[in-house]
Amino acid sequence: MCGIVGYVGPKEAAGVLIGGLRLLEYRGYDSAGIAILDDKGALNVERATGKLKALETKLQGRTLQGHAGVGHTRWATHGRPSDENAHPHEADGVVVVHNGIIENYRELKEALIKKGRKFRSETDTEVLAHLVADHIARGKPFVDAVRAALQEVTGAYAVVFMAKADPSHLVAARVASPLILGLGDGETMVASDIPAILPHTRKILALDEGEFAVLSRDAIVLTTLDGKPIERKPRTVDWTPAMAERGGYKHFMLKEIHEQPQAVADTLRGRISADETSVLLDEPEILNEAIERIVVIAMGTSNHAAQMLRDYMERVARVPCSVELASEFRYRDPLVGPGTLAVAISQSGETADTLAAAKEAKRKGARVLAITNVMESSLARIADSRLYTRAGVEIGVASTKAYVTQLVAGYLLALAVAEKKATLGATERKHHLQQLLHLPMQISTVLKSADAVIVPMAKAWQQAPSALFLGRGMQVATAYEGALKLKELSYIHAEGYAAGEMKHGPIALIDPDFMVLVVGTKDATYEKLVSNVQEVRAREGRVFCIVNQGDTALRELSEQVFELPPSTPETAPILAVLPLQLLAYHVACLRGYDVDQPRNLAKSVTVE
Ligand code: AGP
Repeated sequence: MCGIVGYVGPKEAAGVLIGGLRLLEYRGYDSAGIAILDDKGALNVERATGKLKALETKLQGRTLQGHAGVGHTRWATHGRPSDENAHPHEADGVVVVHNGIIENYRELKEALIKKGRKFRSETDTEVLAHLVADHIARGKPFVDAVRAALQEVTGAYAVVFMAKADPSHLVAARVASPLILGLGDGETMVASDIPAILPHTRKILALDEGEFAVLSRDAIVLTTLDGKPIERKPRTVDWTPAMAERGGYKHFMLKEIHEQPQAVADTLRGRISADETSVLLDEPEILNEAIERIVVIAMGTSNHAAQMLRDYMERVARVPCSVELASEFRYRDPLVGPGTLAVAISQSGETADTLAAAKEAKRKGARVLAITNVMESSLARIADSRLYTRAGVEIGVASTKAYVTQLVAGYLLALAVAEKKATLGATERKHHLQQLLHLPMQISTVLKSADAVIVPMAKAWQQAPSALFLGRGMQVATAYEGALKLKELSYIHAEGYAAGEMKHGPIALIDPDFMVLVVGTKDATYEKLVSNVQEVRAREGRVFCIVNQGDTALRELSEQVFELPPSTPETAPILAVLPLQLLAYHVACLRGYDVDQPRNLAKSVTVE
């Protein structure tokens, strides 16, 4: 979704803003822009459709000097991607950048047009600049004008304003979309996410729901939207700017795939007792309450992790557990209440539907546990309890290490519930926990051996018109995830299916050009899966399999296989997704696509 950066301080603002926007590119965008106020109060705005490069080309030869400014990368919602619709928007010296949706913009726009105001874009955002300009024209100082304008607005937003009338201040506010404030030495910043601030300061403050901040060089003053003072101390984040760099890899996604052994080790760190029989949750109190059922809510890749969490929970803790797409759950009047534990899974902690679903579950009396990667995220803050995945910054739009750490966190949570409900004895729990402890090493082994098989496999898939990913049991969710990775990165149509469903329709697609990827690790349904694959081969479909070492039955039916080290049914999904991530990565590279920022996608989907 859109990226926002704002700066006031001694540095040239243009450089700070462009650098910050670059660090927010992972959010996905289709145009970009900056506005700078120079020391004499003159305002310069530059915007361009496309990537930051296009904006930089426009800026070449122009020196936008000034020490206060706002910048934006736009992911179009209202109005197509164009220079006119790109942010910042300006009206009579008032500039605004915005992430979110102003729901009542049509009424506001009509009223402002009647007052003689002229609009230059198709966006909902431009009304904000006009509203503030209107209040200034009627005598309000800038900060009060922003406050008054926001009282008239409904919707979800993160906004930053700047005005010629008051060049030493920026004003930021948040209703639903994230905003982080940074306090440096004689400078302050605001941005949609922490990486944009890290090159300048590690002292940060997360703006909460309904909060309003006035930034000047030396201070940030926090209040509610209607002006009540708020006291909150900044905290120091230990991420370094280098953590957000590519670290020598061609793409962030590849770097993040190779960070998975460390990420999983971090997820496990300190969470297994010395005798390896118990899970030590960060906030275990939530399990003290009677849990009759569990509902897991999430979107996209996180929903695949949710499906896996359901299977872990049912296997080891024997608690009824269902999985819901947050976008459906939130509107369905779901049957949850006291006795329900709602587990919300979200890498970013900012996905609009997941947040709304978690709030709905809470409103109905359920307790909410968040599995998220981002401390201080909106989900982390509304939840009753948190289990952080500790994957580190994930920049690539395609989720990789975030997903694998969600699986590990889900497995840990299920084992904690199993201990609480006494569905597993200490010996069994120890067996599971030892399997988890082997994972970082096993993931390294898989990644080291992967390219020798996956690169040639990717060449065979490069021209694939369409593909099916099949699995059974826990590997159904792996099949869904493998198909999602391939389609989002390489734009090849791909679907995940439970192999048992093949005969009920999808088998009609199979012909000699049709690609089928089978996640065929050994479990109770292995023989059934082999029969399903035989049916594909009988129709001359092209079969590629992920198998355990020593497999023979699937190998005989496959054009190529990728072998995994020995695994259990519970650890196999964590290992099997790795070659699928790499397959999607290499196919997309071979097809020449932007792996880190696939078309039409945003890293955090902060609007519904
Ligand atoms: C998958 O690669 C995508 N990035 C997407 O499906 C993502 O998992 C989804 O948008 C949910 O995001 P979240 O985990 O931040 O809530």
